[in-house]
Amino acid sequence: MASSACSSLFISIIAALLLCCSQLTAAKEQQHEFVIQETAVKRLCNGGMSIVTANGQFPGPTVEVSEGDSLVVNVVNNATYNVTIHWHGVRQMRTGWSDGPEFVTQCPIRPGQSYTYRFTVTGQEGTLWWHAHSSWLRATVYGALLIRPRDGVPYPFDFAAETVPILLGEWWDMNPIDVIRAATRTGAAPNVSDALTVNGQPGDLYSCSSSQDTTVFPVKSGETNLLRFINAALNTELFVSLAGHAMTVVGADASYTKPYNTSVLVLGPGQTTDVLVTFDQPPGRYYLAARAYASAQGVPFDNTTTTAIFDYGAGDGTTSPAMPTLPAYNDTATVTAFTTSLRNLHSIGLPSVVDEDLFFTVGVGLFNCSKGQSCGGPNNTRFAASINNVSFVLPSTVSILQAHYDGGANAGVFTTDFPANPPVQFDYTAQNVSRGLWQPVPGTKLYNLKYGAVVQVVLQGTNIFAGENHPIHIHGYDFYILAEGFGNFDAATDTAKFNLDDPPMRNTVGVPVNGWAVIRFVADNPGVWLMHCHLDVHITWGLAMAFLVKDGVGELQSLGAPPPDLPIC
Ligand code: C2O
Repeated sequence: MASSACSSLFISIIAALLLCCSQLTAAKEQQHEFVIQETAVKRLCNGGMSIVTANGQFPGPTVEVSEGDSLVVNVVNNATYNVTIHWHGVRQMRTGWSDGPEFVTQCPIRPGQSYTYRFTVTGQEGTLWWHAHSSWLRATVYGALLIRPRDGVPYPFDFAAETVPILLGEWWDMNPIDVIRAATRTGAAPNVSDALTVNGQPGDLYSCSSSQDTTVFPVKSGETNLLRFINAALNTELFVSLAGHAMTVVGADASYTKPYNTSVLVLGPGQTTDVLVTFDQPPGRYYLAARAYASAQGVPFDNTTTTAIFDYGAGDGTTSPAMPTLPAYNDTATVTAFTTSLRNLHSIGLPSVVDEDLFFTVGVGLFNCSKGQSCGGPNNTRFAASINNVSFVLPSTVSILQAHYDGGANAGVFTTDFPANPPVQFDYTAQNVSRGLWQPVPGTKLYNLKYGAVVQVVLQGTNIFAGENHPIHIHGYDFYILAEGFGNFDAATDTAKFNLDDPPMRNTVGVPVNGWAVIRFVADNPGVWLMHCHLDVHITWGLAMAFLVKDGVGELQSLGAPPPDLPIC
């Protein structure tokens, strides 16, 4: 008796020591430097061009942390453009100054200047990424951010090895900044990209591409690998498939999901998906292929296919790899089957009382051309996009977060009258929305949220100009996706469809084409948080708004002070 009491005391002392030491080792701080610079590259038939990169790498450096770690990343801008870096999906609890969207949480880092991002990654495990958040620089300035469980915490699934992260991107045979500047000058739609890429390489199906232009993932026969997919493309939602192999989705946007078996993945720009694959086929080479899911009728898109090779062949490489079949470009049914199959790994206690019940329309529209000018959009217009008919305008003299923090000093930079509901109610997804409803109103409008408020947003796509699946992203938050559907959301009938038990948690939701999605989150992170469509062409046109989440009363419920090196405008 005495000896067993003694040994159990001993065991609990050991356990306490282990816990204390594992927490000590978990509290790591990592330092990195990203030097933003011009780098010469060769792709497709383009002999030599210069792109903007981080540290000369394309894609940029992979950042790997354990959950609980802090990151200190000094960004030095040696390029000729303004730049900022956004840590896509990182919650940034109380560290909004390190979130990164230009003119929202900081002024840009000017050429020759630097800024140090400091934040802690807590409560999230899986795959996120980082990217430039200034003009279209993220076309080439992006990389993976992997968050492993902290020491001693297991993954909720088994795997033998992990491939390098798989970043799907989009390539222009031109400087992407010139592409968007040319479009913005006239109001026309920017050129679609010339190629899609896997880890910066277009693959075997493009003219002028050679074997060095194809990414190869060496794997071992019989082994189960963790594959981390990131859609870093600017404007293209993607179908992804691997020849001959089943995939099991186990996570998305750094939140675990119940295992889901599928032959095709769907990722909108901004989204990530963690997948297990067992290489159990005859040893050989197998193509991974990705191409567009293009939901907007009659709108041009990059219809090329990018490939990479999974190789466990040990052959001479002369037989061509097997090619997977990909869904048709407009296969919305496959998208719906995929997104509605994702379930949270756990049952969650979702707050059932909603404090803020918001209804936001999202879509594209047109501005009339100013008198005496000629514009490049349809029928002499300029393309525009909006949420609740407000087309978001960034300030230029101070960031919104700074203006909020400073109080009265910068009054007028923004207003807090973003509408909780569309200013006009209409049949949002009708075949012919009246032309009178196509013109949004420009503005820098925010929506105020009390600290701790339970927020529900119905995101309602519109059929203005062209209905389209919009990947809507919120900074500073993960949210639960309760339901999605087609047509107009109807609270009377659609509320019953909410999944309040195991809804997936994400940072980017694909709002179905001419349909809706309902999300819910708790406003527990004070600051200014941008919400926008992650198609860069749409954010350029104003498909954005921001939440202003007030400080709470508790000690750890307020935004920290701005860092001393915060860039000024
Ligand atoms: Cu990855 Cu504001 O975006």
